[in-house]
Amino acid sequence: MKDFLELAKARYSVRGFDGRDIPEEDIDKIIEAGLAAPTGVNNQPFRIWVFRSEEAREKLLSCTRMKFIEPAKVIFAVGAKPEEAWTRPFDEKNIADIDAAIVITHMMLEIHDLGYGSTWIGHFDVNALAGLYPETKEYSMVGLLPVSGIAMEPSERHTRRKSRSELVTEL
Ligand SMILES: Cc1cc2nc3c(=O)[nH]c(=O)nc-3n(C[C@H](O)[C@H](O)[C@H](O)COP(=O)(O)O)c2cc1C
Repeated sequence: MKDFLELAKARYSVRGFDGRDIPEEDIDKIIEAGLAAPTGVNNQPFRIWVFRSEEAREKLLSCTRMKFIEPAKVIFAVGAKPEEAWTRPFDEKNIADIDAAIVITHMMLEIHDLGYGSTWIGHFDVNALAGLYPETKEYSMVGLLPVSGIAMEPSERHTRRKSRSELVTEL
């Protein structure tokens, strides 16, 4: 494993894939990284779907305009059930999306650590997905993660970063 800060800085969204197969043991490691994520009150309200068969991947592809995911042989989807997630009493904020987002972040960093590329995809039609896979209706669907070999350099968006003073407040 790389130094964590090195890994976090080296990761970038990959939207060009070589379409290589992902060995079973690497799929397992990516799932393990997701399962190791912390969740509020340890409620673990999330579910990870693994789209592997051609039919499943084609169905998923029909739910998003992000056609660059097509060559990826494995695509994860992650959501969380609001009724199983903790709700902060002060403002009634339900944290299902936060829990799912931490799971996705763990998985995304593991994918990169294994030498593959991915992009967190939030732009997909959750209603269309629920039509194809009704069980997803019970979840707040937070993201898709295609996994494949990296076939592109970081985009200009990756390097466009606000300054430290715009993002950090010291009190
Ligand atoms: C919650 C979330 C949703 C995103 N949705 C999409 C998406 O639908 N399509 C896409 O191409 N990139 C998506 N991205 C990737 C961001 O555009 C990308 O992370 C950002 O531009 C910074 O670039 P970098 O990841 O290369 O550092 C998403 C990222 C996050 C965190």
